[in-house]
Amino acid sequence: MSQRQSKGIGSSSADRAAIVLDEAAELALHLQQTTQALQSRTAIETPMPAEIPESVVREATAAAKRMAQVNAYSRALFSLKDAHAIRVATAECVTSVLRTDIAHVFLARAETEEATILSVFETGRPRMRNLLSHENELTVGVLGAHGTIAVIRTLNKSDWTDFSDEDLRILESIATHLGLKLENLRLENELKSQLQSSIQALAQAIEMKDRYTGGHTKRVFAYADAIASQLPLTEEERERVRLAGLLHDIGKIGVPDRILQKPSELTAAEWTEMERHTDWGYDIVSRVEGLENIAEILRFHHERWDGNGYPTGLKGTEIPRASRVITIADAFDAMVTERPYRKAMSPEDARIRILSLAGTQFDPEMVQAFDAAFEKLAALARQAAPGIS
Ligand SMILES: [Fe+2]
Ligand SMILES: [Fe+2]
Repeated sequence: MSQRQSKGIGSSSADRAAIVLDEAAELALHLQQTTQALQSRTAIETPMPAEIPESVVREATAAAKRMAQVNAYSRALFSLKDAHAIRVATAECVTSVLRTDIAHVFLARAETEEATILSVFETGRPRMRNLLSHENELTVGVLGAHGTIAVIRTLNKSDWTDFSDEDLRILESIATHLGLKLENLRLENELKSQLQSSIQALAQAIEMKDRYTGGHTKRVFAYADAIASQLPLTEEERERVRLAGLLHDIGKIGVPDRILQKPSELTAAEWTEMERHTDWGYDIVSRVEGLENIAEILRFHHERWDGNGYPTGLKGTEIPRASRVITIADAFDAMVTERPYRKAMSPEDARIRILSLAGTQFDPEMVQAFDAAFEKLAALARQAAPGIS
C-alpha cells in the first residue's frame, strides 16, 4: 500500500493521480533492485573465461605441425616412383615428425631376418617397447590389399622420453599413406606388365607375318633408341620412341603375303597397298589402352621432312618428333639389310646416304643425332648380320 493511501488521503482526481505516481515509483524501485540482484547473481554464477594453459597451446601447435609434416610427406609420395626414394622419404618423415634417432622401412619380408620385424609382417600388430635404458622402439605394419606389405620401425626419441599412444597413432597414419602409395605402385606395375605383354604379342605377330625381314622391328627398336639417346628427350619420350620402334610396322598385318613376301620389287599398285600399313597400324594401336599416345607416331613414320612422304604429306615439324626418329632408324635398317633384289649397304655407306638426305627425306636435327650415335648403330647392325661388310 502507498504512503498516501495509508495516510487516508481523499479520492479527488489529484489524489488518485498522486497515488498512481507513488505506485509507479515503487514499481520502478522494485525493478531496479531485482535487476541489480540478477546482475550480481549472474556475475557470481558465470565464471570468467580462464586463460588456456601454455602447455596446452604448445601441445596443440606441435600437433598441428606434425599433421602438416605428415600431409607434406603424403603429397611428396605422389611424385615418387622408385622404392629407394619412397624408403628415404618415409624414414625422413618418421624421424622428423616423431623426433626419433632413426627409422627403418622394410618394403618386403625378404629384406630382413629379424624375428620382431617378421612377426609384424606376419600378424600386422604394432609393437611398442619402452625400456628403462631408453632403448625404445615403435614398429607398425603397413597394410595393403593382401595383408601387411611393409613395416616401419623407429628407435629412440631424441629427448629420451617414452613412445606414447599419440606417437603410435602418428606412425600408423604415416603407414596408411605409405600403404596407399605402395598399392598404387603395385597396380601401376601390374598394368605396365599387362601392357608389355600386349606389346610383345603385337611385335611377335608382325615378326611372324613378315619373316622375310626377320628381326626388322627389334633392330628398328634398338636403332631408334640409340638415336633418341642423343636427343634432349625425357625418359617418358624415349620410352615412346622405343615402343613406336617396336610396333611401327604392326599395320603390315593387313598387307597380303603375296605383296609382303614378294621376292622382287613391288609394282606401283602393290606399293599403294603396302603404304596402307601406316593407317592400319594407327587403327590397331589406337585401340589398345595405354598405347593411344604412340598411334600417331606409327601413322606418320613414312612422312618425309620435305612433305613428299605418306600417308598425308605432312612436312617438317608437323611430323611428330618420334616419327622423325623412327624414319631414320627404319631407313638405316632397310639400307644395311640384304634383299633378294639388292645387296646390303655397309653401315658406313648407309651413313653417307643418310647424311646426304638431311633436309629432304630426313629432319637435319635427327640426322645429327643419328650421326652422333653412328658407332653404336654400326655395331648393332654388324651384330644383327655378321656377314655385312
Ligand atoms: Fe613402315
Ligand atoms: Fe619398317
